[in-house]
Amino acid sequence: MCGIVGYTGPLNAGEVLLNGLSLLEYRGYDSAGIALFDDQDISVYKQIGKVKELKDRCADITDVSHCGIGHTRWATHGGVTNVNAHPHKVGKVTLIHNGIIENYHDLMERYKLASALVSDTDTEVAARVIEHYYQELQDPKAAIWKTVSELRGTFAFCVLFEDVPGVIYCIRRTSPLIAAATPNGAFAASDVTALLEYTREFFVLPEDTLAVLCPEGAFLEDAAGNAVAPEMLTVDWDVESAKKGGYPWFMLKEINEQPRALQDTLLPRIENGLPDFTEEQIPDDFLKRCKQVCIVACGTAMYAGMVAKALIEPLLRIPVSVHVASEFHFSNPLVDDDTLMLVISQSGETIDTLDALRLGKEMGATIVSVVNVKGSTIARESDYVLYTHAGPEQAVASTKAYTVQIATLYLLGCRMAMVRGKMSEEDAREFVQNLLQASEYEQQVIEENNDAIQEIARHIIQFDDAYFIGRGLDYSFSLEGALKLKEISYIHAEAYAAGELKHGTIALIEEGTPVIAIATQEPVYRELLSNAIEVKSRGAYVILITKKGAHAPKKAYDVQLTIPDVDDRFTGFPTAVCLQLLAYHASNEKGLDVDKPRNLAKSVTVR
Ligand code: G6P
Repeated sequence: MCGIVGYTGPLNAGEVLLNGLSLLEYRGYDSAGIALFDDQDISVYKQIGKVKELKDRCADITDVSHCGIGHTRWATHGGVTNVNAHPHKVGKVTLIHNGIIENYHDLMERYKLASALVSDTDTEVAARVIEHYYQELQDPKAAIWKTVSELRGTFAFCVLFEDVPGVIYCIRRTSPLIAAATPNGAFAASDVTALLEYTREFFVLPEDTLAVLCPEGAFLEDAAGNAVAPEMLTVDWDVESAKKGGYPWFMLKEINEQPRALQDTLLPRIENGLPDFTEEQIPDDFLKRCKQVCIVACGTAMYAGMVAKALIEPLLRIPVSVHVASEFHFSNPLVDDDTLMLVISQSGETIDTLDALRLGKEMGATIVSVVNVKGSTIARESDYVLYTHAGPEQAVASTKAYTVQIATLYLLGCRMAMVRGKMSEEDAREFVQNLLQASEYEQQVIEENNDAIQEIARHIIQFDDAYFIGRGLDYSFSLEGALKLKEISYIHAEAYAAGELKHGTIALIEEGTPVIAIATQEPVYRELLSNAIEVKSRGAYVILITKKGAHAPKKAYDVQLTIPDVDDRFTGFPTAVCLQLLAYHASNEKGLDVDKPRNLAKSVTVR
């Protein structure tokens, strides 16, 4: 959940690190720090707050360093203080870390560190153990190998040794770390976003393999000292895609990028008007033969899974279950060789999702992942990967990744229905055509509804609570709508299956309580209107989302928002955009940090 960057080479390391940290800030933003080699010394600068504050603190560094490491933190062990911020410098060792050292307490006792520790972090314990072995063995590599052999937990480390200027040692277990060697020096980072300005070619550091970065390159070796060849990857993301491009917030930029992201994700997988996964080599045979679909994910990705279930299960007539990844291990899941497990993750690094994937694999499931970040751990550990092509998503609140996940799952569902004889080729063509048009529906909402939604947001920010209701597919959209609103505006928001209201929740409705009622599904339209009327008659302020042209009596709503009049199965795309804009404007109108909501991080690599 922290962001790591390292650089050694001819460029100004301070600038490279601070720019890299700004681009990785979505991974953690309670404090940040850098360590720079300066002749034979290493200077450490740390600052609580955002990277901007670290930049201000570093503004008067006059010496140009050519090697250093940087870190942006999301606190796990120890509060948000300058002392707990990384890098941690102990004797000749300076270290940054992403992950959690589970046995830090045992190590503290074994090496009698309690009185020496100055911070409350597990990272400092690791730094002190490396320093201990460095003093004993006088060999940086041996000190690192010896230390990691004693660690339990997850880590990505970049380590500097004061006696070895210009060299960065990197090693990881589970936590992400990539590296690149370029004519302008060698880089390490938590993800490729930080490196786009310098390179699009990189490799994922294999687990328990040491990378030695020096200006001449990045060299890998295993514990026995044998050279390991890196597996190179290339991304097609450009530098601009990781910048705000004139928008005030990344979230608004990413909402606007959705129509394009949808096309980019769908088009390579459509052949002759039909879904085609030849490129990904997903065997039709398994899609035809599997007896159940099991979806695991966290947060927004899990809600994309809920939408997929609502579409796929009635279509395929086989059980489709959606699991909160963090609960999967404890649910004694019903997974076997006949299970298609769909693992959804924007980052491809969420540890709970990864744990669930590993368990599913052990139990015999075939894993198809839907992932946005190339080369990420979930992608690498899956049997098949369907990459979404959303480009880098920087705002913590996921937007474009969600809609492209749904689109990918829809396309897969359509292929499955075809090969299982549940959908004719003609119907599949029509389905694909509709799916492709979803980007137009999204665009229309952005152009036509933005101002009205801003007005609604201005109204709802006066309240502490808001409720989202829907039935069928609309219920699954409402779940994500509520998450979006609560995570960035801090308004308490809940989603309910509209029919459940009268079994308890309706007691919470007071004069003015905002209720966002989603009514885009024709078979349940009347029922949903009745629920809207029920809450409005008890004082709720109802924002009703319907298709254009849908008639609703005045007593059912206070404001009506309309989306294009499309086939019921595809209303999720324009509806999602309405709900994202609502959350965006609520946060912005409240003067909050839209992209970096409090306490959250985008990539959650701790359990
Ligand atoms: C965090 C983010 C969410 C995201 C979830 C899953 O909680 O704040 O926006 O949906 O992780 O992330 P993933 O990368 O696995 O999709």
